Amino acid sequence: MQVVRTVAALRVVVDGWRRAGEKSALIPTMGALHAGHLALVATGRAAADRTVASIFVNPTQFAAGEDLDRYPRQEVADRAALEEVGCDLLYAPAVEEMYPDGFATSVRVAGLPQLLCGNSRPGHFDGVATVVAKLFSQARTDMAVFGEKDWQQLAIIRRAARDLDLPVEILGVPIVRDEDGLALSSRNAYLSPGERAKAVALPDAMKDAVTRIEGGDSVPEVLQAVREALTAAGFAVDYVELRGAEDLEALSRVDRPARLFAAASIGKTRLIDNMAVVPGA
Ligand code: PAJ
Repeated sequence: MQVVRTVAALRVVVDGWRRAGEKSALIPTMGALHAGHLALVATGRAAADRTVASIFVNPTQFAAGEDLDRYPRQEVADRAALEEVGCDLLYAPAVEEMYPDGFATSVRVAGLPQLLCGNSRPGHFDGVATVVAKLFSQARTDMAVFGEKDWQQLAIIRRAARDLDLPVEILGVPIVRDEDGLALSSRNAYLSPGERAKAVALPDAMKDAVTRIEGGDSVPEVLQAVREALTAAGFAVDYVELRGAEDLEALSRVDRPARLFAAASIGKTRLIDNMAVVPGA
């Protein structure tokens, strides 16, 4: 697998693919790759002839005091993992390549970023939308692949791509989970063994809630029960909410395809998850 670190070198490869009539897919990541990221590469490989993964720990999506400095960086292991799943190219730019001196532009989606994770992470989704728009315009692939693990992020990226007429087809991939049900995340590496054992309370409480809501129980009561279960399990709860799957509007009953969203911290580690809630299930 080839590795490139500049926009110019990236374009030489992707433009070559296009001239050869090959479709390509971009898989943007921040590295510390796990089976969830690799599932995105597999989806890219199934949908396109060529795949390019990017690894860039994007400083503009971390707020002051967040984990930018301690975010796991392991490019050698990531390269081996990408090679093993047949990724064609790795784009791993330095911060100066992405944000040269004088960089002054930001992509900001109105509405969608001002809820769920946006409340506790101000500016986060502007940083995400900006770097993703840049990655699209740098790589100029036909497709780009994102995980449903970050459902709100995916909704924001779809909105930005539509609003800005970005010529890229966005593919979403279902959440990949550990055997006990915890969604895979690069941040799970922060969990101590004791914290990891407790973390399963998040998907467990959410699964129960989905069953209860689909069975007709009162949504506000079920959401409150999840908050209480998580607090009892040692989490600091950020939010537990039911929202429309597409528009992310808050719902107090399931009158359309919905999604249960939760974010909660164990110690210093913030975990997020989301699950489908089917109307009339
Ligand atoms: P990162 O957290 O590295 O995630 C990269 C991609 O992998 C995202 O699309 C995310 O939704 C997906 N992903 C992570 N865990 C997953 C899981 N368990 N199952 C399925 N997909 C999973 O998200 C980012 O990086 C950044 O915000 C980025 C989009 C790269 C912009 O900087």
